[in-house]
Amino acid sequence: MSHTLHPLRKQRLQRSELAVPASNPTMIDKAAEGPADYVFLDLEDAIAPSEKEQARKNAIQALNDIDWAGKGKTVSVRINGLDTHYMYRDVVDVMEQAGSRVHTLLVPKVGVTGDLYMVEAMVNQIEQAKGWTNRVGLEALIETALGMANVEAIAQFGGRLEALHFGVADFAASMRARTTNIGGLNPHYPGDQWHASISRMVVACRAYGLRAIDGPFGDFSDPDGYKDGARRAAALGCEGKWAIHPSQVALANEVFSPPDTEVSRARRIIEELKKAAAMGKGAASLDGRMIDAASEKMAMNVLVLADAIAAR
Ligand code: GLV
Ligand code: MG
Repeated sequence: MSHTLHPLRKQRLQRSELAVPASNPTMIDKAAEGPADYVFLDLEDAIAPSEKEQARKNAIQALNDIDWAGKGKTVSVRINGLDTHYMYRDVVDVMEQAGSRVHTLLVPKVGVTGDLYMVEAMVNQIEQAKGWTNRVGLEALIETALGMANVEAIAQFGGRLEALHFGVADFAASMRARTTNIGGLNPHYPGDQWHASISRMVVACRAYGLRAIDGPFGDFSDPDGYKDGARRAAALGCEGKWAIHPSQVALANEVFSPPDTEVSRARRIIEELKKAAAMGKGAASLDGRMIDAASEKMAMNVLVLADAIAAR
């Protein structure tokens, strides 16, 4: 029913999400000191099969040795997909050895809700066995045609699910889209060829109270291309974007932070509507534009984000 509302399940600042191969402890240490809101330690596609075990050990050590929360960061681990034999050991070892330290697990290539059910069940059991009261969250990468076909069902999984991410690289491969670029625009397409898919994922997120995060942009020597992609994602409702290179973190933080002019306009909208309400009116005008109850909701989105950034 339309009055069954799904408020945001878990608020976290996630403007920039730095991907760090867990095979590289130096990069992990740098990421911990850098300006990213979010860091995910990657055990999946950036890690060669021969390095999987060492990467898992490095991730566990970094979770235990570094005070990620104290540094104002959320730390996540991208486990391997359910179609690999690494996945169960990733969940068991990371959870058993660092489950009280990691904030979320990022599950790649989620195709059906059952994928999340399996990870959730394992995490539940390990937390129960350890007697931990913190609850590790789950985030799902939507990056296959199957995942996108089921995105509305996946978004309704509930449980620990907090966010969906659009994985443009695997998605392009799964769709057999004519490109070998990660996240760039195809000049033969009139517009952004990923628009419809990102938009579909964002709708599913917002309908069911999840954060919506845009994935990678591979050309780290093209900051303008990165910012354009981030701005398009923000316009659709994404609240952050991956950085596959440290230089992209500041770009994401900039694009996904409301500028001062936007924050002060949001405050003025709230003030003007308060004055209008005191006069028994629902709508008002501000700088020659009509504002009403919907404007108040838009303004509150800006102010909640501004507060979260200020509190960081
Ligand atoms: C991320 O994992 C992607 O495939 O884009
Ligand atoms: Mg991927």
